[in-house]
Amino acid sequence: MTVDQKPLLAANWKMNPVDGGEALALVKGLLPVASTYVDRVEVALFPPFPWLLGVAEVLDQTGVKLGAQDCFWETSGAYTGEVSPAMLRGWCQWVIIGHSERRAYLGETDDMVARKVAAALGTELSVIMCVGELDDHYEAGKTDEVVAAQVKAGLALCSADDSARLVIAYEPVWAIGSGKSADPEHAYKTMRLIRRVVGEVIGAGAARKVRVLYGGSVTAANVESYVELPLCDGCLIGGASLRAAEFAQIVKVTAEVYGQR
Ligand code: PGA
Repeated sequence: MTVDQKPLLAANWKMNPVDGGEALALVKGLLPVASTYVDRVEVALFPPFPWLLGVAEVLDQTGVKLGAQDCFWETSGAYTGEVSPAMLRGWCQWVIIGHSERRAYLGETDDMVARKVAAALGTELSVIMCVGELDDHYEAGKTDEVVAAQVKAGLALCSADDSARLVIAYEPVWAIGSGKSADPEHAYKTMRLIRRVVGEVIGAGAARKVRVLYGGSVTAANVESYVELPLCDGCLIGGASLRAAEFAQIVKVTAEVYGQR
């Protein structure tokens, strides 16, 4: 993260809420606090596709950003069910790519992730690329090997020129939605490795602009232990981002921690 960049808190709503009215109520609940701290913390919300337009209207002029949870690598054509980066450009600022749930349930490969990352960055979107080891990898001491390979493969097609719009979220798969958040020391070591690998792939200068987040069972009670890590540029939050008051508290704590740096 460079001095002109802010820490990022990304709210990944996943396939929630089912009701559009609830989606709007959630935004309205967290907005007063999130918009108060936009000078210190970048907040981006990632609702499911059907709620994006409605949420965009509520977020207009607030400084809080909007993103999609995925996009395809082509611009248009015969790709049933897909959404292209070009369709998001201009009104969505962000997209999440390669989330472990997409890798696990939809067979998304490193190669697909690389194509999506390059397409989205090439369309002026900011990208959060997710990486992280499975429980078996963690237990076998293979975290570094697995994460380094995911980072290298995912960035294979991207250009160093786009590094200011690139974020890597380190999300140990075993920590996602499990309540078993990673030990901050483990998160720190893996985020340090990610930085090193990003430097090897796109060059050390460009890598300085890449923000690295932690994700996996982040709550208002534990967020401080991650955002206070020297190499942590924010968090990707799932479950706790569906509770407006808790997410607002996460924004507040993050703003306070970075305000003291
Ligand atoms: P969680 O999800 O905060 O519910 O663990 C994080 C994520 O998958 O992005």
